[in-house]
Amino acid sequence: MGAGHTRFGVLDAGPRELVRTAVDQAVASVDRGVDRHEIGELFLATLGFGGWQIGNVAAVLAEEAGAVGTPTHRIENACASGGFAVRSAVRSIESGAVDLALVVGLEKMTDSANPRRRYWLGVSGDTEWERTAGLTFAGVYGLIAARYLAEYHVGPEALAEVAVKNHANGARNPNAHFQKVVRREDVLSSPRVADPLGLYDCCPVSDGAAAVLLARSEIAHRFTDTPVYVDGVGAGSDQLAVQERPELTRFAASRRAAEEALRSADRSRDRISFLEVHDCFTIAELLALEDLGFAGRGEAARMTLDGVTRREGRLPVNPDGGLKAKGHPIGATGISQAYEAFLQLRSAAGSRQVPGAESALLHNVGGAGATAAVAICSVG
Ligand code: COA
Repeated sequence: MGAGHTRFGVLDAGPRELVRTAVDQAVASVDRGVDRHEIGELFLATLGFGGWQIGNVAAVLAEEAGAVGTPTHRIENACASGGFAVRSAVRSIESGAVDLALVVGLEKMTDSANPRRRYWLGVSGDTEWERTAGLTFAGVYGLIAARYLAEYHVGPEALAEVAVKNHANGARNPNAHFQKVVRREDVLSSPRVADPLGLYDCCPVSDGAAAVLLARSEIAHRFTDTPVYVDGVGAGSDQLAVQERPELTRFAASRRAAEEALRSADRSRDRISFLEVHDCFTIAELLALEDLGFAGRGEAARMTLDGVTRREGRLPVNPDGGLKAKGHPIGATGISQAYEAFLQLRSAAGSRQVPGAESALLHNVGGAGATAAVAICSVG
């Protein structure tokens, strides 16, 4: 029924201000208004990057939302915190416990110095065997990308095309960290980060916050004539350490989350108008298309090169620019996907509007696939 979003990027604002801005926007976006005192439960998705407030940080949300006294709690599943927070809020409403819930995602990442930033970027990977051996997330996804290219005899152009498309979409999003187009040759020649991934294959390190207000569907029309419905949610998990998994090029957690969400929404894939998927690195978008069941194994590369996933293609993917261009303030990302669904499904996405968007699938992954959450939304 409402959604708010700060710009993502390198921002002067501190964490409290980011939360306050996103919440104020979400409240202001409710067509017929909402009384904050009616909100029954608050959810804050955040990793707490940099350790600015390690414990009990959800109380900060209650303060900044002007809702001190309301039950509030934090959801932390690394980069999938936002998707899991939406799912928890939906479950809370479904249980009958509350009629209205506020879900906010936040991360303030850019004010840490580089060594500290590396530490906080790494904490969500397996510590015993992988992180302490020096494996970063760019490193893990680089290994996955190398394996994918070799397994399916694909060239790096397919990865580059993901970046080109998502930067083109981000250039139309005033909230995106990067609002500039890039060419395939820029991506292919960008400095190597973890071969075959270069700078333009990686999401950036961003600050930002996003918020959504969820209401029980039976009362949604009290607030607006055009509610966006969450029709189904799903989630899954996998071994934390990538080395414990049987294969590198599929994320079982995403597959399980998608099956559950589609089943509970009673929605077939051909009725989904667009996808918001977790493209923390370009390879992740190809895996997502396959894990979510929109492409056969090894086929996402061809589909991407053929333009199917462009905004004007048959199945637009990441019309807001994705993590790649819009940015990836960890806890905010999953909520930002819900914000995009709110705009797109109400035909309010401006120059990046997906024509005729009626139903969306949102996909949010924790780390290198250890957790994943999916939501299916539609306009009533
Ligand atoms: N895509 C495109 N451009 C990027 C970028 C990205 N991901 N990251 C930085 N840039 C640009 C900056 O805007 C800057 O441009 P400018 O010189 O024109 O101002 C330039 O590259 C250098 O920026 P800087 O911040 O110094 O880059 P860096 O080398 O410190 O970091 C990465 C680059 C890719 C290592 C960093 O963005 C990163 O670690 N990304 C992954 C984050 C991550 O792992 N998240 C969790 C996912 S599971």
